[in-house]
Amino acid sequence: MCGIVGYAGEVQAAPVLLSGLEKLEYRGYDSAGMAIYDGEAIRVAKAKGRLQVLRELTSDGALIPGVIGIGHTRWATHGAPSDINSHPQVSDSGKFAVVHNGIIENYLQLKEKLMKKGVAFVSETDTEVVAQLLEYYYKGDIVDAVIQVLRRVEGSYALGVLCEDAPDQIVAVRKDSPLIVGLGNGENFIASDVPAILSRTRDIYRLNDNEIVILKKNSVQVLNMDKEPVEKEVSHIDWDVSAAEKGGYEHFMAKEIMEQPKAVRDTVSPRLRGGRVVFDEISLTPEQIRAFRKIYIVACGSAYHVGVVAKYVLEQTTRIPVEVDVASEFRYRQPILGADTLVLVISQSGETADTLAALREAKRLGAYTLSIVNVVGSTIANESDDVIYTWAGPEIAVATTKAYSTQLAVVYLLTLYLADLLGTLTPQQYAGYIEELTALPEKMEAILNNRAIIQYLASKFFNVRDVFFIGRNLDYAMSLEGSLKLKEISYIHSDAYAAGELKHGTISLVEDGTLVVALATQKRLFDKMMSNVREVKTRGAVVLGVTTSSQRQIEKEADYVFYIPDCCPMMLPSLSVIPLQLFAYYVSSMKGCDIDKPRNLAKSVTVE
Ligand code: G6P
Repeated sequence: MCGIVGYAGEVQAAPVLLSGLEKLEYRGYDSAGMAIYDGEAIRVAKAKGRLQVLRELTSDGALIPGVIGIGHTRWATHGAPSDINSHPQVSDSGKFAVVHNGIIENYLQLKEKLMKKGVAFVSETDTEVVAQLLEYYYKGDIVDAVIQVLRRVEGSYALGVLCEDAPDQIVAVRKDSPLIVGLGNGENFIASDVPAILSRTRDIYRLNDNEIVILKKNSVQVLNMDKEPVEKEVSHIDWDVSAAEKGGYEHFMAKEIMEQPKAVRDTVSPRLRGGRVVFDEISLTPEQIRAFRKIYIVACGSAYHVGVVAKYVLEQTTRIPVEVDVASEFRYRQPILGADTLVLVISQSGETADTLAALREAKRLGAYTLSIVNVVGSTIANESDDVIYTWAGPEIAVATTKAYSTQLAVVYLLTLYLADLLGTLTPQQYAGYIEELTALPEKMEAILNNRAIIQYLASKFFNVRDVFFIGRNLDYAMSLEGSLKLKEISYIHSDAYAAGELKHGTISLVEDGTLVVALATQKRLFDKMMSNVREVKTRGAVVLGVTTSSQRQIEKEADYVFYIPDCCPMMLPSLSVIPLQLFAYYVSSMKGCDIDKPRNLAKSVTVE
């Protein structure tokens, strides 16, 4: 993870870097730093803690003058958060300063080799090895030194390098970690992500692996590993700056929860034409679709939870067997797949290291890969055979909400698209589902308008110690997401269980006052769920039920109830997730937690 920014221009670099880093804090926020050339030497300021600490240390950048520099916000992997382990890391003589996002996997061997040659290390980071190696291989040409280093390091990296001998340029390169170049007027940038530079330019280059950039205030040169020039296409970012601002909300998460109806509408409407699902963007043919014998879904975190929903929905509707895997497991379990397999990869960022590795493994094994991605032009989007974009817009809060909802919407679209080609739905069923899908955003709005009820419920439970989320079938998939949302932002221990499974062990943890959130939206399993609710109530649990407006019988069993509008069973997850997100949000807010930047987490996980 980690976020990097670089600036070469005419104005003072430090304030530009600080405001860029602020937009990248979602990538890591346990320490931050900057290296700036002040006309004589490279000066470094870095500090453990949030960016605010660095701001204070440098008087908002005023204490570290200069018009070229690199900055970093860290999510620690090698070496605990500390001033010394913060980036930039510098070489022995101070000639090179480096910021890095990713992991140098063979850093220990390289470090030992350098230490034998007398190089002294000060930090525990893998990044310092890059700075020291640069100095070791440097013979007067920085790009040559960078190429030498790249030939020796293994792992993933986006690197920004500043060298005292060529103080008018930043050299940058990436492999398996994101990096863009921002093209301004008399100023140019590198950054891990678009929001970091959006206030200064909208024209960017997206870099490919091992493309080396030489960035100066009036020029940007891109070279390959043989130092040959690479022609890059300029991409223009057309989203609004305000899309990445809080817009009056106290937290990004609140804003993003409220944006969900629009995000789902933006994702669904362009793909509905004349009552049918149309994907102009994919090249998968009907023959290929008919030949699929199996679907694998691979993702991490909440995107994996979308996969769990998708398994139920796709299997029920298309009758193709579906397996869903956490990407970090999939990549090492020698999955059985080939040309008759569709591998569906789900990722908001399009950069998650394990998901990317799983995608590459699936391609290597000959499967057809289709990704559902939010960030346009991201690595996963680029490398998949086909990509379907979610139009959620930039998502900033670490805990995903609107990206999750748009991923679900694409799952429904895709399910209907496949079922249509496979003929597994009657025309009436198909038309009914299209109608339900079109009506979802309005129903989501109705739930959001009732958010005060959830706020009240949160006030009753925000100081509980343990919470169990239970459900069957699609409600089990939602329990997984509800539980993750709550624990990641409120630090309350919570677990999700298939309701029928609870009695095989976990029910022993239920005691007087334990909160159980029972999801009972699926009509055909409602009675079974009520039996499970009785089981936990008998052991003293307090039950908060979530069901649809037509299933009022729940009031006989549950202590508190939140109703969502009725809709077809398959699409209920799009509605039931909203109270779960709101519950986590309000509980976290009442506990005074840092909602948008929960401890130990990062939004974009570009390390294994
Ligand atoms: C992190 C985020 C989660 C996200 C997961 C996968 O853990 O905090 O919200 O679901 O990564 O990220 P992706 O970008 O691949 O969807």
